[in-house]
Amino acid sequence: MHPAERYRALVAEKKLTGDRAQERVSAALEALATKLETPGRKSLFGFRRAAPPPRGLYIHGPVGRGKSMLMDLFYENVAVVPKRRVHFHDFMADVHVAVKHWRQEDPGNEIVRTAEGIRTNAALLCFDEFQVQDIADAMILARLFEALFEADIVVVATSNRHPRALYENGINRQLFLPAIGLIEKHMDVMHLDGPIDYRLAHLERARVYFTPLSAEATGALDAVWHDLTGTAKGEPSELEVLGRKLKVPELARGAARFTFDELCVAALGPQDFLAIADAFHAIVVKDIPLLTAEKRNEAKRFVTLIDALYERSAKLICTAAAPPADLYRAGDGSFEFERTASRLVEMQTPEYLGRSHKPKLKET
Ligand SMILES: Nc1ncnc2c1ncn2[C@@H]1O[C@H](COP(=O)(O)OP(=O)(O)OP(=O)(O)O)[C@@H](O)[C@H]1O
Ligand SMILES: [Mg+2]
Repeated sequence: MHPAERYRALVAEKKLTGDRAQERVSAALEALATKLETPGRKSLFGFRRAAPPPRGLYIHGPVGRGKSMLMDLFYENVAVVPKRRVHFHDFMADVHVAVKHWRQEDPGNEIVRTAEGIRTNAALLCFDEFQVQDIADAMILARLFEALFEADIVVVATSNRHPRALYENGINRQLFLPAIGLIEKHMDVMHLDGPIDYRLAHLERARVYFTPLSAEATGALDAVWHDLTGTAKGEPSELEVLGRKLKVPELARGAARFTFDELCVAALGPQDFLAIADAFHAIVVKDIPLLTAEKRNEAKRFVTLIDALYERSAKLICTAAAPPADLYRAGDGSFEFERTASRLVEMQTPEYLGRSHKPKLKET
């Protein structure tokens, strides 16, 4: 079944609410699926393509509008092999490893070699949460995209930002601009801007987010920790991330306990947070403060932490100075924080709490 058909079926079954903006995007995904599945795109000779591959799709819009849901419907229902759906942070982590490897094996050609490796596993690449915040990523992306599109890889992406707003105000942004040009050249850009934030729309909250900070909140947090682990205090432990050791203050029955400062004041990065989200099904975070403009670095790490936990369906139990929407109000990064606030709400719902933990399987 094709994406638009599948979408209509889910609406008919009342599993989804009908939404005009989503219909438009699902129709575009349907058209792309049809093109991708049309045989005869490859030339008779095999080594030279007869026609360029179809344009990919870049879906951007505010949080909770169904971008990832629609991309997943497309991904699951399109008959293209090989295909790969990946969270953008994970993809870039793999890219950095491959680039480092090829820089030694074939200096000067590391980006092209990396792209070849990606092509072996994916004629279709679906990126969830395309975002560029890291200078190391920004500096690689223009050349990488050039090589990916050159290899005829079709890309579908979701993002909270229009391509032209990617890496806005980033250091050396001019070096990133060609990546934006390539996106616009090879992908159709669609705005998914329906009126409903579905993530907020459903569902009552369970008790995993305790606010404001108080002895009572800490007591409630301790009680959840005890229920979860059967112990008042976990054992100190550590986690190996890219050859480094990350300290885990308390570990018990697959759950880990940290303070906000241990996670977000310490200079941890996306890899650390993904490793945490892979290793533990539940993470307790005590004392999330108000994230003011002076705490922009802490706020940025916190955003990355929540993205990682959400991506792996790891559960968060925390005490915080304010409800999600009031944690971070102004300053650099407050735009990114909207998604985080929306997720923090969803992560309290029985539906989210009922999901199973999805760690990334280690590649052997
Ligand atoms: N039409 C709909 N009817 C009911 N639920 C929906 C609908 N569209 C999306 N949802 C649900 O709303 C939640 C948020 O959707 P989704 O994760 O796809 O949003 P998103 O646009 O990717 O948000 P973000 O920018 O935060 O990644 C999901 O649980 C999804 O299944
Ligand atoms: Mg999404």
